[in-house]
Amino acid sequence: MKVLVTGYGGQLGYDVVQQLKARGEEARGVDVQDFNLLDAETVKKYIRDYAPDVVVHCAAYTAVDKAESEPEVCMAVNGMGTMNITRAAQDVGAKMVYISTDYVFPGKGTKPYDEGDAYGPQNVYGQSKQQGEYAVRSLMTRFFILRTSWVFGKNGKNFVRTMLRLGAERPEITVVCDQVGSPTYTQDLARVICDMIPTEKYGIYHVRNEGFISWAQFAEMIMKKAGLPCRVIPVPSSEYKTPARRPLNSRLSADRLEAAGFAPMPTVEDALDRYLQELGVTK
Ligand SMILES: NC(=O)c1ccc[n+]([C@@H]2O[C@H](COP(=O)([O-])OP(=O)(O)OC[C@H]3O[C@@H](n4cnc5c(N)ncnc54)[C@H](OP(=O)(O)O)[C@@H]3O)[C@@H](O)[C@H]2O)c1
Repeated sequence: MKVLVTGYGGQLGYDVVQQLKARGEEARGVDVQDFNLLDAETVKKYIRDYAPDVVVHCAAYTAVDKAESEPEVCMAVNGMGTMNITRAAQDVGAKMVYISTDYVFPGKGTKPYDEGDAYGPQNVYGQSKQQGEYAVRSLMTRFFILRTSWVFGKNGKNFVRTMLRLGAERPEITVVCDQVGSPTYTQDLARVICDMIPTEKYGIYHVRNEGFISWAQFAEMIMKKAGLPCRVIPVPSSEYKTPARRPLNSRLSADRLEAAGFAPMPTVEDALDRYLQELGVTK
């Protein structure tokens, strides 16, 4: 299989390329140096020349708070940019994987969201990812949309890295305790993507590590496992203002993934153990 992976300079794209290569597939990772998603002609030419069997679209505008002050950039990259990639992938008859987010949902209540639940994004980033989903759903014949949450991987910035840095600098930190979801390790998500793309089991899936916890509980887990003496003080979101409104309920039901016969995702704790080892924080 010949696979083109966008967002190679980011967290997920990098791991997807490494895992595809380890499985003996022909994988090429591309980033903004190769083409800007907004340049429709270049995107089209690049994909026509490479002629991939599969396009895994991991590139995105992911700065959730910054998006509130530059909504047109975020909407363009995640909406129009995804449309450009999708058109080009469809033109060469490729399959497509689009990575989306729990932020497309309103995040109310406590029930985990199913794949068929109604959209209702609460911030600009969520709206832009919803536009990306619409592009894929309306333009592609053979696609997988994978909604995930709270991603952490070796190749980029994320919550775990921030906690490790702050935990080494400060005796205590405040972390929100009323946003609940599933942190997700890029290595585990990349494995599912690699398992999925040779199949014809198209559609929308929720893919995240197993277990629901709050950011504060996750922070405590990180401090404990990394041996950092920093105390985590839980606070409600109302006491931790950010430019973007974040859903309190980020729970995604992943039943469909297992029902389709894919191997279940490991627990959040297991994922964190392996990530800390990958970073060299623990042995
Ligand atoms: N991170 C999360 O917590 C999270 C949660 C749910 C879903 N997701 C989704 O999962 C996917 C992977 O996330 P990630 O954390 O791996 O993202 P990431 O680390 O932020 O990487 C995104 C990549 O996209 C590239 N990119 C941005 N704008 C571009 C443009 N106009 N043209 C070409 N490339 C562009 C970035 O390049 P530059 O660095 O040069 O800008 C970067 O390499 C994304 O679709 C994201 O929306 C992420």
